[in-house]
Amino acid sequence: MPARNHSQWLANPELKEGEWIDSRVYSDQEIFNDEMEKIFKRVWVPVCHESELPEPYDFRTTSIAGEPIIVSRGPDKEIRAFLNVCPHRGMLLERRPSGSFLEGQPSGNPKRITCMFHAWQFDMKGNCVYVAREKEGYQDRLCKENVGLRRLRCEVKFGGFVWVTLDDSPKVSLEEWAGEPFECLRESIDAEPLEVFHYHKAIIDTNYKLWHDTNSEFYHDFMHYHNRVTGFNDAYFARKNFAFKHGHVVVGTFEVNYENYEGFESRAELSFPHLPPNQWYMVDLFPGMNFNLRGSALRCDIVTPLGPDKVMIEFRGLGLKRDTPQEREIRINHHNSIWGPFGRNLHEDLIGVAGQGTTMRPHTEQRRILHGRQENQTIHDEVGMRHYYDEWGRWMNRLPNDPEKSWHERNPAEAAAAAE
Ligand code: FES
Ligand SMILES: [Fe+2]
Repeated sequence: MPARNHSQWLANPELKEGEWIDSRVYSDQEIFNDEMEKIFKRVWVPVCHESELPEPYDFRTTSIAGEPIIVSRGPDKEIRAFLNVCPHRGMLLERRPSGSFLEGQPSGNPKRITCMFHAWQFDMKGNCVYVAREKEGYQDRLCKENVGLRRLRCEVKFGGFVWVTLDDSPKVSLEEWAGEPFECLRESIDAEPLEVFHYHKAIIDTNYKLWHDTNSEFYHDFMHYHNRVTGFNDAYFARKNFAFKHGHVVVGTFEVNYENYEGFESRAELSFPHLPPNQWYMVDLFPGMNFNLRGSALRCDIVTPLGPDKVMIEFRGLGLKRDTPQEREIRINHHNSIWGPFGRNLHEDLIGVAGQGTTMRPHTEQRRILHGRQENQTIHDEVGMRHYYDEWGRWMNRLPNDPEKSWHERNPAEAAAAAE
């Protein structure tokens, strides 16, 4: 068949529903707005790692679904999360990406979060402890106790990551949300404290789901020279994708032959606890977080969608907190040589999704994106993406291959059960 004309190009593929989706899920502003409300404001998000807040009064700022967030460690060592918003007139409370409240700011007291606008102050539990010229302005009409910060649910879990949700009554607990997919890594990441040794972020002109897709499909690994050389044996192609409830996927393990790549070495000596030498695991969490353990180094990707065609991805590399300086140096080398900004793998994935982002900008013509490879759930089977978009449809009440249509109408029995 020759190259297709316009109507042939737009025709539905002969694959089954669920094996292809409409590209508007990657490019439409209205769908994006819906995703923020229906998905990102309701899920658990790992916003950072506990080792990034080592001391009391340390903090980091970030955002979920456009809402600014502050995460800080109190004098009682507890990590808490709040909206980074002043209850007075909505000023952004803290502008720095990270730091400490231990020392006072030029316009605030030590050990306080101080709003620079009108100098209201808050303690590490989010209580309002000072209102400038309180009596003069409010007499007895406004009480400090009633103007505290907006507290958010926050838990430290699964290897010491700090998880936050904007939802005061999340549908499921964090354990129920991600406990099962993390089962394959739990012994290794919970055996002893971990520490972040690498952080970088990338802002890419593409949809956040395309990044998650590339983390959950391995058909693209022809693009990765490193994978071709160190993998591509029978065990590599035989490993399986496992789907879990809530849209999560785990990609099974195999033994990586690092020595096959010139300049690389076995990672056996610095393997994470309980992990057989040079093994590899990947946990892909809905709607776009990824944990990847390559023998001696754990990588975590957290996406912050910025628009239908813009995403910020934060990359962290973690090792064991007790590393000696020499061990840490080797671990950093293992991590960066493959996953650093100049490593052998990561930038190739970024080129892939940036290319997709170029063809799927807002207002580009809708087209079909194929997710239809079926290979008994082995590594090139696209089951991970199919599982993800089925969950996406459920949360969004949109069919991924026809997003104007209702998922609930297409799945009445499940929708009725969920409503009970
Ligand atoms: S806006 Fe924060 S003190 Fe006024
Ligand atoms: Fe890749």
